[in-house]
Amino acid sequence: MAKIFTVVSGKGGVGKSTFCVNTALSLGEKGHKVLLIDGDIALRSLDLLLNLEENLVYDWSDIICNRCDKTAAILPYNDKVHLLPAPLEMPDNLNSDSFKELIDVFAPDYDFIFIDSPAGVGELQQIYALVSNQCIVVATPDNVSARSAYVAGNLLVKSGVKEENLRLVINRFNEKAIKKGNFLNIDEIIDITYLRLLGIVPEEPKLMYSSVSKKGLPTRSEAKLAFKNIAGRILGKEIPLNL
Ligand SMILES: Nc1ncnc2c1ncn2[C@@H]1O[C@H](COP(=O)(O)OP(=O)(O)OP(=O)(O)O)[C@@H](O)[C@H]1O
Ligand SMILES: [Mg+2]
Repeated sequence: MAKIFTVVSGKGGVGKSTFCVNTALSLGEKGHKVLLIDGDIALRSLDLLLNLEENLVYDWSDIICNRCDKTAAILPYNDKVHLLPAPLEMPDNLNSDSFKELIDVFAPDYDFIFIDSPAGVGELQQIYALVSNQCIVVATPDNVSARSAYVAGNLLVKSGVKEENLRLVINRFNEKAIKKGNFLNIDEIIDITYLRLLGIVPEEPKLMYSSVSKKGLPTRSEAKLAFKNIAGRILGKEIPLNL
């Protein structure tokens, strides 16, 4: 039965989709079956990041509206990582119950499900969060992103997510820039967000263009190692931060 994660942020563009794809691929490389659900209605991107856009016919609204069979909407990236694309419009019958039914259809077939949310925490993110075992808040090392991660975490707790099920990922970490005082350091981000740290992903220009071109990240990339470590922690291993 899949363990389900919703990935959120306060501020947009901080790397939620990049995180979802690369963490899923790392878990896939470790032999686990992962379903990526693109939850960013209208602004879907995971099909593009995975180079699957040309194969896209159905999305998850077609399943909840009974327009297609569950397997018809799934796009396999490889034998371990599959994508369920987002609809382009808000489905009329989307609510906590219909989304839970959707998750229940797929949970037995996968080890992990990642739901990639749009930025912010509103009704939609709450629907996703309430079917999830954990919510991962992504933030970059700046004041605006860190404070909005705190707000996002708070809103999730107010909507019923338990504090112990919230985690923080710091993305675009750049040690040199932090040492120069241009960005917040890790302690400062944790102090602002009050969130428990799951992992840190370095700033990595290659992520922008090779995020998942069919080649993936170079094997020796620091970001690749960061995602591998995060995947290990998700699997319950004690892996030090190693900065
Ligand atoms: N660690 C990183 N190093 C360098 N670039 C990154 C990193 N993480 C993400 N990016 C880049 O930042 C941009 C935004 O990333 P992404 O689309 O994953 O953010 P998002 O939080 O999903 O955005 P949105 O809120 O619009 O859904 C992309 O161009 C991506 O390649
Ligand atoms: Mg995104």
